[in-house]
Amino acid sequence: MRNSNRQWILRKRPTGDIQPGDLELVDSPIPDPGPNQFLARTIYLSLDPTNRIWMSDIEQYMPPVGLGEVMRGGTLSVVVRSNNPAYEPGDIVSGIAGWQEYAVMDFAQKLPKTGVPLPAYMSVLGMTGATAYFGLLDIGQPKSGETVVVSAAAGAVGSIVGQIAKIKGCRVVGIAGSDEKCKHVVKDFGFDACINYKTEDVAKALKRECPNGIDVDFENVGGTIFEAVLDNINMKARIALCGMISGYNSEGQMSGPANFSMLLMKRARVEGFIIIDYFPRMGEFMADMAGWVASGKVKYDTTIVKGMENALSALNMLFTGGNTGKLLIQASEEP
Ligand SMILES: NC(=O)c1ccc[n+]([C@@H]2O[C@H](COP(=O)([O-])OP(=O)(O)OC[C@H]3O[C@@H](n4cnc5c(N)ncnc54)[C@H](OP(=O)(O)O)[C@@H]3O)[C@@H](O)[C@H]2O)c1
Repeated sequence: MRNSNRQWILRKRPTGDIQPGDLELVDSPIPDPGPNQFLARTIYLSLDPTNRIWMSDIEQYMPPVGLGEVMRGGTLSVVVRSNNPAYEPGDIVSGIAGWQEYAVMDFAQKLPKTGVPLPAYMSVLGMTGATAYFGLLDIGQPKSGETVVVSAAAGAVGSIVGQIAKIKGCRVVGIAGSDEKCKHVVKDFGFDACINYKTEDVAKALKRECPNGIDVDFENVGGTIFEAVLDNINMKARIALCGMISGYNSEGQMSGPANFSMLLMKRARVEGFIIIDYFPRMGEFMADMAGWVASGKVKYDTTIVKGMENALSALNMLFTGGNTGKLLIQASEEP
């Protein structure tokens, strides 16, 4: 056990790309759990595009992280000491312990002891998988034979969306930032095609790869990629607006597509969603996804960077495309 607790503190609200001084790594004493609390050691920290949103003070779905506070982040931890009868040392828990090596917690979700690799609970069997599942099935409502487009296709959420859409019998076209990522989602995850947005005219390539038009768009990126998709939607298309990562580093609120009128012309529906609203339905997701993962129908990637000290530089990988699949910090060894 370390004798101090490294924590990342938010010092400044970033303007544009996150800069090294926006967060500070500090050494603090390991805290003691109070009555009914437990001390948890972080094993994995989830790095998410939304971390950048939480650092800003734009209108958002959770309060922004306060200046001087430990950065918020999803975690998978092991209980090391407990004053709460519901938790005992050795329990593995998932929660929001933040960007720190140790945290005192009142509540976290206990994970079953199943032999499933722990990173799966931070990706395909966690929030990432649930985002793909509910966004695609609840909002996108794909039907067999329809065409589904997914941006950030080799990322954590996108790679799973495409595989679920294949299970539902759809033609699946991904959009990603390199030939290597494109090859990977086609060869390993069964996408029908993938467009490298850095080397192709996306609107033209979508016309080629979606000869019957686009029925469902799982939108992870926004900006010009979203516009290219809108140029190719069918009547009554459904757009699950999951994220707009291309705008997260810009100042103020993100702007919408210049061709917004396509929604009117095509009588299409766009619906934003935030996964926290689906928490009461997590059982539904687990029932399907656990089976798909166990049978190999859904595969997942992780990019794991070791050391809490690397959290800030690793976060930038999400904006440069340095990750494939779910990006995690491994803060300490698995027990
Ligand atoms: N609504 C919700 O509840 C919810 C929950 C989770 C995630 N999300 C959203 O889902 C999206 C994906 O999240 P994730 O966790 O799965 O991350 P991810 O896809 O694993 O990583 C982000 C990827 O986005 C791509 N990207 C970054 N900047 C881009 C740009 N300017 N243009 C085009 N592509 C860009 C990069 O891939 P390339 O190499 O392909 O560029 C990067 O690898 C994000 O928008 C996130 O905010 C929403």
